[in-house]
Amino acid sequence: MTQHAALIGLGAHLPPRQVTNDDLSRTLDTSDEWIATRTGIRTRRWATPGQATGDLAVEAGHRALKSAGLAPEPGAVDVLVLATTTPDHPCPATAPRVAARLGLGPIAAYDMGAACSGFVYALATAAAQISAGQARRVLVIGAETMSSLLDTGDRTTAVIFGDGAGAAVLTAVPDAAAPGVLLATDLGSDGSGFDLAYVPGGGSREAAAGPVRDPAAHTLTMQGEKVFAHAVTRMADSVTSLLGRVGWAAGDVDRLVGHQANIRILTSLARRLQFPVERLVLNIDRVGNTSAASIPLALTDAVAAGELTAGDRVVLAAFGGGLSWGSIALTWPEIAAV
Ligand code: ACO
Repeated sequence: MTQHAALIGLGAHLPPRQVTNDDLSRTLDTSDEWIATRTGIRTRRWATPGQATGDLAVEAGHRALKSAGLAPEPGAVDVLVLATTTPDHPCPATAPRVAARLGLGPIAAYDMGAACSGFVYALATAAAQISAGQARRVLVIGAETMSSLLDTGDRTTAVIFGDGAGAAVLTAVPDAAAPGVLLATDLGSDGSGFDLAYVPGGGSREAAAGPVRDPAAHTLTMQGEKVFAHAVTRMADSVTSLLGRVGWAAGDVDRLVGHQANIRILTSLARRLQFPVERLVLNIDRVGNTSAASIPLALTDAVAAGELTAGDRVVLAAFGGGLSWGSIALTWPEIAAV
C-alpha cells in the first residue's frame, strides 16, 4: 500500500551568542535603522568559536525526536537528511557524524546542498523516500553556521545572516489526508544565476589547496538586489503552481511560512500572491537569514507563539543560492515543538 509522509516532530536550537544591529554598527558603516528598515532584522545569533554546524544540528535533532516522542536510539529513524550550505568539512558529509552523535545506528545519512532552499528540498526528498517505501521515518535537519562564510567587514552580507538549526521528523502513514501529510511539493532551479549568491573558492573550481589563495574567495558574495527580485518571482511562481496541484486558492491558506531572507521579500511575495500580510509567519527580526535552518526555526517559533494550530492550511516557500527554490503544502498537525 502507498505510504504518505506526515510531520510528527519539530525542534530548533540557536547558539547562545547574540549579535545585535548595534553590535555590528560599532565596526561597520551601518545602523540599526538601516538594517531594520531594509531587512526586518534586529538581532541574530552567531556560533561561538569552535561551534560547528554539526553541533547545532545534533541539538535540533534531539529536540525534534523528543517532540515526536522518539528516543535517540537505533531504530528511531531510518534516514537522516541534513540540509546545509556550511558543512563541518568539505569531506565527508556532516550528516553521518550527526547520526552517530545522536546514537541513531548505522542508518542512511546524507547532506542536501540547496543553500537557503535546502530544508524544503530535504523535506521533499525525505517524503519521496517514504512514499517509495525506502524509509519509514526520517529525521530532516536544516542547520547552518553562516557566520563561518561571512566577511565581517562587508556590510552587504554581514548584517543579513545568522546561525541556527531546526529539525523535523516525518513518518509513514497510510492515509493521504491525515494531518501533517505533505500534500504537494514543488522544486526548481536556475543555475545560470549561480553567481548571484555564492562562495567562489574552496570547491574544485578554486580549491583552498590550489594556487589561488585569496581569502576573500572563501566568503559569501551576493548581488542583493538581483537575488531579491528572483526570490519574489520564483517563490510566487512556485507557490502558485503548488496551490494548483493541491487545489487551494491563496485565500484558503492560513499561514505562509517563507524563507526568512528579508521582510520586504516576504511582504512583496504576499502582495504578488494576493495573500494577507498578517498571515505571514515572521521571526526574521530575532534570527536573521539562517539559510537552510530558516523555515524549521520559523515553524518552531510559530508553534511556540500559538501562531500555528492543528488544522491550519500551511504553505512553506523557500528561495536560495543555486538559484534554487521550492514550496510544500500541508495541513498542520497536533504537534509540540521543542
Ligand atoms: N548598511 C548601510 N548601507 C548599506 C548596507 C548596510 N548594511 N548594505 C548596503 N548598503 C547600501 C549600499 O551600499 C547602497 O548604497 P549606494 O546607494 O550608495 O550604492 C544602498 O545601501 C542600497 O543597496 P542595495 O543593495 O540596493 O540595498 P537593498 O535595499 O537591495 O538591500 C539587501 C540589500 C538587504 C541585501 C537586499 O537586496 C536583500 O535582502 N536581498 C536578498 C538577499 C537574499 O534573499 N538572500 C538569500 C539567498 S543567499 C543564500 O542562499 C545563501
